[in-house]
Amino acid sequence: MCGIVGMVGENLKVEDLVVSLQKLEYRGYDSAGIAFLGDEFEVFKKKGPIDILKNGLKEKGSKGFLVGIAHTRWATHGEPNDVNAHPHTDCRNEIAVVHNGIVENFREIKEYLISKGHKFSSETDTEVIVHLIEEEFEGDLLQAVMKAVRKLRGAYAIAVMHRKVKDLIVAARRGSPLVLGVGNGVGLLASDVTPLLRYTRNVVFLEDGDVAVVKKDGYEIYDMDGNKCERKVYYIDWDEKAAEKGGHKHFMYKEILEDPQALVNALVGRVKGDRVVLEELEPVEDLLKGIKRIKVVSCGTSYYAALVFKYFVENFTDIDVDVDVSSEFRYKRPHVRENDVLVAISQSGETADTLESVRLAKRHGAKIVSVVNVVGSTLDRESNVSIYMNAGPEIGVAATKTYVAELGVLYLLGLKIIELNGVWNEETKTVLDRLVRMPELLENVLRKDPQIRELSEKYKDYNHFMYIGRNYGYPTALEGALKLKEISYIHAAAYQAGELKHGPIALLDPNFPVFAVIPDDSLFFKTKNNVIEARSRNAKVIALGTEGNKSLYEIADDVIFVPPTHESLYPLMMAPVIQLFAYHIADMKGLDPDKPRNLAKSVTVE
Ligand code: AGP
Repeated sequence: MCGIVGMVGENLKVEDLVVSLQKLEYRGYDSAGIAFLGDEFEVFKKKGPIDILKNGLKEKGSKGFLVGIAHTRWATHGEPNDVNAHPHTDCRNEIAVVHNGIVENFREIKEYLISKGHKFSSETDTEVIVHLIEEEFEGDLLQAVMKAVRKLRGAYAIAVMHRKVKDLIVAARRGSPLVLGVGNGVGLLASDVTPLLRYTRNVVFLEDGDVAVVKKDGYEIYDMDGNKCERKVYYIDWDEKAAEKGGHKHFMYKEILEDPQALVNALVGRVKGDRVVLEELEPVEDLLKGIKRIKVVSCGTSYYAALVFKYFVENFTDIDVDVDVSSEFRYKRPHVRENDVLVAISQSGETADTLESVRLAKRHGAKIVSVVNVVGSTLDRESNVSIYMNAGPEIGVAATKTYVAELGVLYLLGLKIIELNGVWNEETKTVLDRLVRMPELLENVLRKDPQIRELSEKYKDYNHFMYIGRNYGYPTALEGALKLKEISYIHAAAYQAGELKHGPIALLDPNFPVFAVIPDDSLFFKTKNNVIEARSRNAKVIALGTEGNKSLYEIADDVIFVPPTHESLYPLMMAPVIQLFAYHIADMKGLDPDKPRNLAKSVTVE
């Protein structure tokens, strides 16, 4: 996600603001910018790394300023370029705003502001915020910001400054983090504590709906009704490296804990009542209506997400969903015809095999719908339609929150295709309702971390694992096995549970535990029989099932429960469990889950 820094003081140096912004580089970004107010009100922003900003500001580095804000952008609306970089300014170039989050209703607001004569220069959702503040400003910046943010739907963390207000920054948050601090005569705010630690370890975390005024010697916090609020001051004893990981040992663990927020970000602005709204799909909607077959290409974790999409769409419609691993698809006779729709799934948007598969399909006349996390990535730019995952940058090599975000987007895409093909009914409405409620349930699943950690401790020394599942449980088994393989280096095989008797069961013995994905779904009893078969070979069994199903204790050595949901959504519900189980084993074996041997975050080679 984007990074925000704000500073208020006396004779601050521009290079201080840039150095503070650099503390947020670890979050990943594609452009950066700053605005500062001293003798002059200046805004400087560029696509690319902060070093480009530093070089452009070289002669200003020692320049003194009183108020400054800075931003690293992770593009969600509008590709990475100088114009879309933050800060954004109003028509009079008097107000500057930096923003982290997604404004769901920015199109409606933009139309209203244009009708009032405002001129826009960027493609971003953020720019509507600064023009809204301009529209509301009558001399009191705090009041103007309060009025403006009341009109926003979606998630925001913003810092706002005005060229005529030389002693304060106004900040506001809902759904995206903001932290305040005061130290050595400097008032500070940032997206996380890392940039504050140079000045103070006493910090305040704003809460949703808070609006704050930050000055060089203190801050005031208000609720949306203008009532003053007190917020707890925390003492941060982390060093900077720990702060980047939210105080956790690894980015991967922090990112697993972000699973619920990643799903929120994938869904935000895309569900209206009991309907899915995917405006991005408009160019191919006519092709999707009555479609008989959809092609899908992807790799690794994205391939397992694709399998969930296949089960989902084929379960509700007569559409054939042909899923291929990209590295196979690109070398075989593609069976793609003019105006076929090919869905390409890639969080990085740079996976070479997936890119080449897309190019092959386009040469045969296919239209490309990509599900991608990186705006402006090669896949994004080469697709007819891109549906962004909005998961923010994922630092750990192993896909965790991006897998959850991919699934979120794919369920929405699947529901939209189902609706376009005239199958909208009470069950699909139920799926959508359960999907929208899922982030809260994922928080419940994450609270099982201590139990999962104990399980990891118990099973960490085995050299083999077999993951099994049926239907939607099979992709979960595949993803669970991949997570364990890639970060703990333990051999893990995944099979359709019904396949055990066709050979794999020969592997089982007391040294070959089975991780059974066995939710309360339509095939529960079939899978239960497979688990009993496995147990009869004296294999240890871990059962991952649905809360309340006590029969699992009779067939498994250990049981992890997740809350009940629609059977199609268990891959989402179970994602944190399979991720945490693998993470803790890797950590307990003294390995670095963030940087597994032999692996890269994006496989840009064949
Ligand atoms: C997932 O944990 C792995 N890092 C890997 O399988 C990854 O999913 C695969 O390389 C595809 O990456 P992409 O989604 O960026 O295309």
